[in-house]
Amino acid sequence: MDHVGIIGYGHMGSMLVSGFLASGVLRIDEVVVASRSRGSLDACAAAWPGIGIAATNAELARRCRLIIIAVRPQEIRGVLNEIVPVMDGDEHIVSLAAGISLEELEAAFTGSVTRAVPTVTSEVGQGTTLICHGRQIGMNDALRAEGLFSAVGDVALVGEEDLPAATLLSSCGPGLLAAVIEELAGATARASGLSPDRALLLATEMVTATAAYLKETGEAPSDLIRRVATGGGITEVGVQGLRERLPGVLDEVFAAMLERSDTVGK
Ligand SMILES: NC(=O)c1ccc[n+]([C@@H]2O[C@H](COP(=O)([O-])OP(=O)(O)OC[C@H]3O[C@@H](n4cnc5c(N)ncnc54)[C@H](OP(=O)(O)O)[C@@H]3O)[C@@H](O)[C@H]2O)c1
Repeated sequence: MDHVGIIGYGHMGSMLVSGFLASGVLRIDEVVVASRSRGSLDACAAAWPGIGIAATNAELARRCRLIIIAVRPQEIRGVLNEIVPVMDGDEHIVSLAAGISLEELEAAFTGSVTRAVPTVTSEVGQGTTLICHGRQIGMNDALRAEGLFSAVGDVALVGEEDLPAATLLSSCGPGLLAAVIEELAGATARASGLSPDRALLLATEMVTATAAYLKETGEAPSDLIRRVATGGGITEVGVQGLRERLPGVLDEVFAAMLERSDTVGK
């Protein structure tokens, strides 16, 4: 059978298992999981009765045609060393590891390889998985992988040279926005008698609603700003303050993150 294997049952691995099965894009008897610790495998088997469990990464590689590697970047070389020797060459490896290039993957495995960058929000079927295929990829393998990740949100094909910057937005972005939500709530609580919990609830609801509004209406952020920030009003003062300071802050933050992404997995 044409099994899909997932190596590494951590945050991303468990999220993908859950997303693929809950969406119905895969049946439970089509999925095989391998992970380093017995505890993770027991948790997986308990959550998904009937799922395939492989005792080793090599066993998983023997049983699967599409192999998604969801381990940390510093662990992927060890995993490749275990699986490639037992593979036929017509399998498809999909790596989630940040900073591990297609060139490096293709040096280890000469068949089809793909880099995929999902996001934590894939857990609720939202957000974009970035996908970048290697040189050997065939049409069927490409479409199959894209179809799987479409089950947990949107899919965007990007060139590898754009992957680091796009990753900051689509994959690190939820963490950045969560930090902004905390700061919005913190500033509200500091400036008022509202409790931090209440302010956090209001801030989260406002961000969710604003994103839904922009998506549903198709309005540009600048149009929304014009509608809310009437001349001489309260919002205008805030928008002006942010427009003066935010570009500098974000340029600095993005430069630091890009610098860090150059060294991940090295
Ligand atoms: N977190 C994100 O938002 C995000 C987004 C996009 C991409 N990514 C990428 O996704 C990958 C996984 O990230 P994560 O957040 O899911 O990390 P994680 O929670 O630490 O999970 C990694 C899992 O890999 C397993 N593992 C480690 N060494 C292994 C080995 N030799 N063989 C089999 N399994 C092994 C561990 O298993 P045990 O638990 O069994 O020890 C662990 O559960 C990373 O490469 C990261 O760059 C993450």
